[in-house]
Amino acid sequence: PPLDADHPLASGRTAASPLVRAANGQRSERLPVWFMRQAGRSLPEYRAAREGIAMLDSCLRPELAAEITLQPVRRHDVDAAVFFSDIVVPLKLIGEDVDIVPGRGPVFANPVRTPAEARQFAARVRARAEDPTLFAPIDEAVRRTVAELGETPLIGFAGAPFTVAAYVVEGGPSKDHLRTRTLMLAEPDAWLELADAIAQLSGAFLEAQVRAGASVVQLFDSWAGSLSVERYRASVKPSSALALARVHALRTPTGDGVRTIHFGVGTAELLRDMHDAGADVQGVDDRIPLDEASRRLGGTVPLQGNIDPAVLGAGREVREAHVRDVVRRGFDAPAHILNLGHGVPPEADPQVLTDLVTFAHTLRGDVPPE
Ligand code: CP3
Repeated sequence: PPLDADHPLASGRTAASPLVRAANGQRSERLPVWFMRQAGRSLPEYRAAREGIAMLDSCLRPELAAEITLQPVRRHDVDAAVFFSDIVVPLKLIGEDVDIVPGRGPVFANPVRTPAEARQFAARVRARAEDPTLFAPIDEAVRRTVAELGETPLIGFAGAPFTVAAYVVEGGPSKDHLRTRTLMLAEPDAWLELADAIAQLSGAFLEAQVRAGASVVQLFDSWAGSLSVERYRASVKPSSALALARVHALRTPTGDGVRTIHFGVGTAELLRDMHDAGADVQGVDDRIPLDEASRRLGGTVPLQGNIDPAVLGAGREVREAHVRDVVRRGFDAPAHILNLGHGVPPEADPQVLTDLVTFAHTLRGDVPPE
């Protein structure tokens, strides 16, 4: 079925926002800017709201998740909210034993290592992924959030199959995801079952957020940069494409689609293949300039990025010169969503982020800076 008639895109509330327009390849006078991990430990109001509540528990309390999602919008005047959740929340919802350890990241009690374990895991995931009640707390949190957001779009997100698998297989954060990469080489059939099952669950998570009111979604393949182009193409891209296709199948009652962003770290060599997986906007980290990224994509793809998070700790002059340079290079693409090259570091000064948004809004989205 189509999206509800009162969906923010369908009712026109967010369709003309600078962010949604950029995702459609159109430039606006206002340059859209938001930050990955804008909701989180850099904000004192976030730390206060989370006091004594475990990360994954906070994601499953709709009122709290909505409040945390709205905090950076109120504080920084960013052009989008990003839903407060995590890439492992869908696995928590289907009953997997996963925890997010502060300062470390997602940890799975029963890592998936053998082909038999991969197949059992995939079967568990597929048995639950389409349960219509699975995402009830997500549905409620998103509805509460968009009711407060007005014309500001909400970005939903999910983890791409490889990045989620890099936690499921390793059992926790790892440097080079060696076991995961070994599984895909040694047991390609079991790997594909695992990756496609995660794609189905991440796709269902994305669809739940869009149906509840998200206007754009981002697929995070944060760790794809540890793969060769050949391995990405053969073992990862098809599953990521499945998750994205699920969103592209959705329509407003008047037939408009929902735009997608695809992001990974250290993916300069993968940009073209990541784009081929089907997203509308390519996210770019800070290791490659946007003009070069655009060249690699044939100059036709809207880009998101790529302020070096390290500049948040530098003085105002250095910071603003860097942001101006990023924005100037972004004019080589048809449209640009300004963002960091990766998430906001927890130690970032929130006032610096607010000032950065103010500065970005003195530049224009439709005319290059000097
Ligand atoms: O503001 C936002 O960007 C929305 C919220 C968001 C979170 N996780 C909340 C969170 C998003 C988009 C994510 C995605 C996510 N989670 C990714 C992909 C994005 C990326 O950063 O590359 C990944 C790899 C994860 C897995 C994960 N979850 C990690 C590595 C960590 C950090 C662990 C730590 O404590 O340093 C988490 C926990 C997490 N997810 C936090 C937040 C706000 C920190 C939890 C806390 O406050 O203790």
